Amino acid sequence: MDYNFDKIVNRKNTNSFKWDKLAARFGRDDIIPMWIADMEFETPIEVSKIIKERANHGVYGYTFRSEGYHDAIKNWVKKRHDWDIDSKWITFSPGIVPALSMCVNTFTKPGDKIITQTPVYPPFYSVIKQNGRIVIENELKFNNGRYTIDFEDLLCKINLKRNYFTSNLMNNEFKFDPSIKMLFLCNPHNPSGRVWTKDELLRIGEICLKNNILIASDDIHCDIVYKNNKYLPIASLSKELENISITCISPGKTFSLTGMATSAIIIPNEKLREEYNKTLETLELDGGNIFGALATEAAYKYGEKWLEELLKYLEDNLNFAVNYFETNIPQIKPVRPQGTYLLWLDCSDLGLKGIDLSDFFVNQAKIAVNPGASFGKNSKEFVRMNIACSRKVLEKALYQIEEAVKAK
Ligand SMILES: Cc1ncc(COP(=O)(O)O)c(C=O)c1O
Repeated sequence: MDYNFDKIVNRKNTNSFKWDKLAARFGRDDIIPMWIADMEFETPIEVSKIIKERANHGVYGYTFRSEGYHDAIKNWVKKRHDWDIDSKWITFSPGIVPALSMCVNTFTKPGDKIITQTPVYPPFYSVIKQNGRIVIENELKFNNGRYTIDFEDLLCKINLKRNYFTSNLMNNEFKFDPSIKMLFLCNPHNPSGRVWTKDELLRIGEICLKNNILIASDDIHCDIVYKNNKYLPIASLSKELENISITCISPGKTFSLTGMATSAIIIPNEKLREEYNKTLETLELDGGNIFGALATEAAYKYGEKWLEELLKYLEDNLNFAVNYFETNIPQIKPVRPQGTYLLWLDCSDLGLKGIDLSDFFVNQAKIAVNPGASFGKNSKEFVRMNIACSRKVLEKALYQIEEAVKAK
């Protein structure tokens, strides 16, 4: 290993949301932060070196994203995810959540419906609702510790049975609900950790193509995928899907750069791209920041070796945690993720839910985790734990959970 992921970095008093908002969010700060999705690891030295060099310059005037930046994204997407994109398809957003919000505003109208697979990353709900659109939940099926897409439910939600209106009960024809305009896909999926297979993506794609539904695909976790799984950008599966997809990626989760507020929004369809860019310009958000652009370019150009080592370290963390739960804390069942460094924990055997479950983790185990209830109405007995930290910290956290469960 050339990089040291065991190193413990003191992040207190660095305006770190994860560390410095503990007291505000959880009522105490003597707990291990394993909540919000950023990593405890230093970004690759190849990236911080370039940031430091630029910082040394001392003048930080208005900037633009260079050809090198665009090439770095294009080459990364091709090399890592086998998708040939044109540099001109790449547009910008300060973050993926703002990009989703811009997509909602650009491509749908107030009152329109947006469908998504739940439980899901909480801002998916707020971005839809706060823009005056309606969330249609396509709840995932959860069987034997594995989440899958409920395609029957998806079809039911998208299709209004014609006979519902006409009382023509013998006629089994379906008519799509024209107010469903968009699907928010999360791939890999947060919090389940599923990396959707080609078959699943093709089925989703077929349904969207048939029913004039645009796909806004949040692929922020796409680089963190474990052995024997393969992330596929839905847009890469066919020209037709490329034409209806907006793919959102960023080096943020992958390279410890979430605070850089820079993401790449890939929109192959020229008309859709023009419309999105109009929104970006109207909001005057296109400028971006010097360090975000530089960090993106450096990470995608020089970060691959670091990422390969990170993936090994994370997979070892994952194996360690899953094994620890199975052996020492069988009351908590981890849902083994195929991607992401987020471990979704089924705590139903603890007999606690909602606020009581959060209270158990914060005040008994002394761990900050994300409450399952914020991801979906049927997830009150789950929590989400971030395992992107040094093994020592992970061991300590698991031990604290074990002791708290024993004392319960
Ligand atoms: C699925 C998903 N999308 C988006 C984000 C946040 O993206 P950004 O910080 O670029 O807005 C997160 C962060 O946890 C996430 O898990």
